[in-house]
Amino acid sequence: MIIAMGNDHSGVELKLEIKAYLEEKGYEIMDLGTNSTESCDYPVYGEKVGRAVAAKEADLGILICGTGIGISLAANKVKGIRTCVCSEPFSAKLSKMHNNTNILAFGARVVGSELAKMIVDQWLEAEFEGGRHQRRVDQIMEIENR
Ligand code: RB5
Repeated sequence: MIIAMGNDHSGVELKLEIKAYLEEKGYEIMDLGTNSTESCDYPVYGEKVGRAVAAKEADLGILICGTGIGISLAANKVKGIRTCVCSEPFSAKLSKMHNNTNILAFGARVVGSELAKMIVDQWLEAEFEGGRHQRRVDQIMEIENR
């Protein structure tokens, strides 16, 4: 499975730790930057990861900024993307099972690296349940066409 990762300056350190953690587990990481701690604009990286996932160059995406909020807002502007910010594993798991999220976001200034790993694990291991949830996800995605 290929996971696209993106972050702003505040998320570099956490991104590198999560990247190494996931590579160790056998995931292929598409690192779309930034890898610099110089101040930059998170929408650039939210869009990059959003476009990689929407184009199916990556199966899923992970985004990190200070709070996870700005970068998730940017990714959600890309057609076909469902990103959620999760600061704990329960919401991350349910966001995949019920909302079929294709990008996970969290904040480097909000969660520590061990909690971030639990959030990522729960999200990656969860599977979309379909059924009534498919209907609702379809309704969300139809909003893009109106
Ligand atoms: C950058 O200082 C910060 O605003 C950004 O990382 C993020 O938290 C925005 O949502």
